[in-house]
Amino acid sequence: MTKTQKLQQIADEIARCRTCKAQKSGKPVPGEGNPDADIVFLGEAPGRNEALSGRPFIGRSGKLLRRMITDAGLREAEVFITSPVKYLPDRGTPTKKDIKHGRAHLTKQLAVIEPKIIVLLGATAVYAMLEEVIPIMKKHGTIVEKDGRRYLITLHPAAILRFPKYAPLMRADFTLLKRLVFKKGL
Ligand code: URA
Repeated sequence: MTKTQKLQQIADEIARCRTCKAQKSGKPVPGEGNPDADIVFLGEAPGRNEALSGRPFIGRSGKLLRRMITDAGLREAEVFITSPVKYLPDRGTPTKKDIKHGRAHLTKQLAVIEPKIIVLLGATAVYAMLEEVIPIMKKHGTIVEKDGRRYLITLHPAAILRFPKYAPLMRADFTLLKRLVFKKGL
């Protein structure tokens, strides 16, 4: 089976998963991008636009994220974009239980893609992968290794939409990411 087929199989599992759908709505949003991506961007949970279309990060936060990716000199087609939670939570914010459950699907996706680095966009992504509550404003720009995987902690683009003064912090983290990728220092 090719990586694309394996990812499709996981997307089909997500579409059938009753636990994923509990207290959530809309289409499943399994993620999209290059099955061979060196970089995976991990968000929080789909918003309304994403739940309507089934595509990740296509609303305001998504446009900002995609612009930051290209501004950093990376190509969208070379990365994979997803979230630990695969459906729009009824309350907007996912619960810890949602995040822990989503991790099961996400871990399978990461095992197929085998990225060199996973960019954790905000506290939910950090909690999903590092199982820790970490103050993002203190720890952004940090590279963490855990269980054989490498992570870069940064802000969620929604935080930049709320507090535009933080944009340079996130841009600096993406510059670091670009340096790592182009130096092949991964
Ligand atoms: N925010 C996320 O974390 N993921 C999306 O897909 C959209 C917005």
